[in-house]
Amino acid sequence: MAFNGLYTLEEFGEDVGAALDVWGDSMEAVLNMGQLVQRFIGENDTKSLWTIGEPAKISSGLPGRKLLDGPDGRFRLLLAEYAPDTATAVHSHEGWVVIGIIEGSERYTSWRRVDDGSNDTHADLEVVQDHHIMPGEFGYLYNEPFNVHRQAAEEKGALELVLMKGRGQRLNHIDEATGDCSAPIELNR
Ligand SMILES: [Fe+2]
Repeated sequence: MAFNGLYTLEEFGEDVGAALDVWGDSMEAVLNMGQLVQRFIGENDTKSLWTIGEPAKISSGLPGRKLLDGPDGRFRLLLAEYAPDTATAVHSHEGWVVIGIIEGSERYTSWRRVDDGSNDTHADLEVVQDHHIMPGEFGYLYNEPFNVHRQAAEEKGALELVLMKGRGQRLNHIDEATGDCSAPIELNR
């Protein structure tokens, strides 16, 4: 089986690049890219996505695929799966992230870092989003100070596309109760 769909990976990548060209690294760009991710899921046979790209290490430990790397390290698109009733650590990313749910659902929480970001070992967080994301919907976070989130897959787990600025590196894991920061898990991305 090969890619099966109407909206190819190449077209999607061009549209993401165009959104970044037009809107820069802004909130408008992130929301536009959310719509592109929705379209990519809606117009394609998502089962066929397992046959393209290359294997990728996902924080959940479940199989994933690296589907696309944008030119000059602009963005990365992953296919990722999360087990039922499991949550990621609270973690920060190098920049914006868009998540499109294919199957299952997750409780999605994001935070703003309210301190000045100068301390590598401690972060003061304030919740900015806390809701459920269902198939066909997208979740997102913006560049810092909004670059902290947690994904908690619900009873059916979650299969999703994750579009990330740069290479989607995690910067820190953050203890929600204390604000203590620690090194993220190594994802070799
Ligand atoms: Fe993340």
